[in-house]
Amino acid sequence: MTAISKAAIADRLAEARRRTLDLVGRLGDEQLNRTFSPLLSPLAWDLGHIANFEELWLVQTIGGREPLRGELGRFYDAIENPRRTRGELPILRDEELRSYLADVRARTLDVLDEVDVGPDVEDPLLRDGFVYEMLLAHELQHNETMLQLLMLVDGYELPPSIELPGPLAAKCGPETIEIEAGEYEIGAPGTGFAYDNERPRHTVFLDAFEIDRNPVSNGEYIAFIDETGAEPPMHWEDDGDGGWVNASMGRRNPVDTAAAVIHVSWDEADAFARWAGRRLPTEFEWEAARPRLDGLGAAWEWTTSHFRAYPGFEPFPYREYSEVFFGDEHRVLRGSSWATHVSVARPSFRNWDLPQRRQIFAGLRLAGEAGR
Ligand SMILES: [Fe+2]
Repeated sequence: MTAISKAAIADRLAEARRRTLDLVGRLGDEQLNRTFSPLLSPLAWDLGHIANFEELWLVQTIGGREPLRGELGRFYDAIENPRRTRGELPILRDEELRSYLADVRARTLDVLDEVDVGPDVEDPLLRDGFVYEMLLAHELQHNETMLQLLMLVDGYELPPSIELPGPLAAKCGPETIEIEAGEYEIGAPGTGFAYDNERPRHTVFLDAFEIDRNPVSNGEYIAFIDETGAEPPMHWEDDGDGGWVNASMGRRNPVDTAAAVIHVSWDEADAFARWAGRRLPTEFEWEAARPRLDGLGAAWEWTTSHFRAYPGFEPFPYREYSEVFFGDEHRVLRGSSWATHVSVARPSFRNWDLPQRRQIFAGLRLAGEAGR
């Protein structure tokens, strides 16, 4: 990689930071420090964690520097500190927090100047700039978590660069496509940035199946609520007149029946699919069908799959990114939502969460056996 590419890394780091700061630019310190929900960190924690993760990898690990704030890092460890406890931690706040973000970034750029990030570098962290891609992805993924919290902030205005999703492309009824039985390549290719859990790429055999071109819409979900008495998605409120409003960010807007439903749990998505006489896709079906799907980017889509290692999985660069979450507890989500940065959304990307969670921007797409 040339010096120009290092400049490109610096530009992309700056762009991600602008996005982060734009999200919170109009908020006061009280709002940054407030715990809005036990399921979500105060924004001040996310901001400090973004900077601390950057310091850990790009300054301490790569640059061999000592941490700026001693033992501070333990309060920003996501595994050690459950979200409900983060508001009480002695984390950086207000002006101290802002200067820490800036001081870490200055050191990051000093270290970037010193290292080689070419394709032939021996250190796999630096080869092809892996660790920088990881940091960019980390910050942008935290932006989405921050947006989950920002839904709860009264009067919050999204920055102009981020838009709420509109209606799905008009279709006359659900349009379903059939995917032939056969072998499909699953996972990220050997080169280019991907997380450890997306590798190694491997072949799976899939029976024939069918899958909808579009995710489930709010209108379809309302029919399910009306018929079964199911709970409405998170943030919906009764409008007092038999309809529903979306009550996020302190505003009440009529639910757009043509937009993809979001803020439903895996349990609810699974119940909807059964009610509709269908099922959720497996994550492999989703990945195999993705080139032929519409409506991507509106909502993360729940799948039936548990979050498990691919055959031959090797943790890299640390076990706590994926490996500690493998097992039967979490379900895989595929795709991306309106709050996801485009660079995060790739066909092999695997998101995961607990089946009862609804604060994430998750909906569903229906699948079924072929030839129903
Ligand atoms: Fe993180």
